[in-house]
Amino acid sequence: MLTRPLGRSPLHVSALAYGGWRLAGSEGSPAATSNEPGIRALHAAVEAGFTFFDFADIYAGGRCETIFGEALRASPGLRNRLIIATKCGIRRPGDNHPDAPYRYDFSRPYLLQSVEGSLQRMGLTEIDLLMLHRPDYLMDPAEVAGVFADLRQSGKVREFGVSNFRPSQFAALQQACPFPLVVNQVEISLFRPDCLEDGTLDQCQERGVTPMAWSPLARGALVQPPTSELDLRRRAVLTRLHQLAQAKGVTPAGLALAWLLRHPAGIIPIVGSANPQRIAEQAEAGSIPLSREEWYQLMEAAHGSRLP
Ligand SMILES: NC(=O)c1ccc[n+]([C@@H]2O[C@H](COP(=O)([O-])OP(=O)(O)OC[C@H]3O[C@@H](n4cnc5c(N)ncnc54)[C@H](OP(=O)(O)O)[C@@H]3O)[C@@H](O)[C@H]2O)c1
Repeated sequence: MLTRPLGRSPLHVSALAYGGWRLAGSEGSPAATSNEPGIRALHAAVEAGFTFFDFADIYAGGRCETIFGEALRASPGLRNRLIIATKCGIRRPGDNHPDAPYRYDFSRPYLLQSVEGSLQRMGLTEIDLLMLHRPDYLMDPAEVAGVFADLRQSGKVREFGVSNFRPSQFAALQQACPFPLVVNQVEISLFRPDCLEDGTLDQCQERGVTPMAWSPLARGALVQPPTSELDLRRRAVLTRLHQLAQAKGVTPAGLALAWLLRHPAGIIPIVGSANPQRIAEQAEAGSIPLSREEWYQLMEAAHGSRLP
């Protein structure tokens, strides 16, 4: 798989990332009670050429990081071939106190505690990329910048980024940070093209920040057939996507990922399938050519009306 630089850092990563959110399965699935299916998915991702892996401390209450740690321990040498990202800053209800609501917490003690937990679950001494998962309404940029500087100084984290930040929130944190933030991980797909219009991608291009696209297949909704129950815009996207995919002899999923890869901001889509065959297929998205006209046919459908 092709690689690209991660923001303005010295790190290089695969053009698509593999996301570990679904490794622990859903209720009733085999992965809910056994780590084996998740480990198989991770091996499929490594074999398909993914070198960039995305996690969060809260995925399945930490179990996804634990599964990843188990896979790393079973394959000596693997860790050094990968760039490992995780996120922090969201606290579940009841976390630490029975009355505690669902909330965001970028306080120094909580961020430091969260990093220790992720390091331990994955069996790492160093995280390559740490992201703040969702903006904390009470974020103090100077406090967060101080935590980042200390984590880098102690060798526990190499690079830092954010997730779901508006451009203004990104700028507020960046002005306090002594080094460049390298990533903004946001939802981008043909069903959620907002970041192309709200300044998020413009800011990434202006500052050399890598946009990572979460749920690039809209949680699987982009691979559904275009049925009549869907609203007009979604039906138009799926109709165009399926037609183009068929004409090119590729899968709709591959084409939806290729649409993201075609953008000059260097979007890194995060593949979320836990199915080894689909992981291998979607890893090939970078080799699907897409002309400017084809890209715009899909953009127009995603936009929901003719572009002026
Ligand atoms: N920063 C954030 O706030 C945030 C939020 C959400 C996610 N994320 C990250 O983004 C990653 C990807 O998100 P996502 O999992 O929602 O990505 P996605 O690629 O949009 O959706 C994956 C889902 O689509 C299904 N799917 C994929 N291809 C399919 C096909 N050909 N046929 C049928 N079903 C198909 C998968 O099922 P199978 O597993 O059965 O293939 C899976 O349930 C996560 O792992 C996580 O790392 C970040």
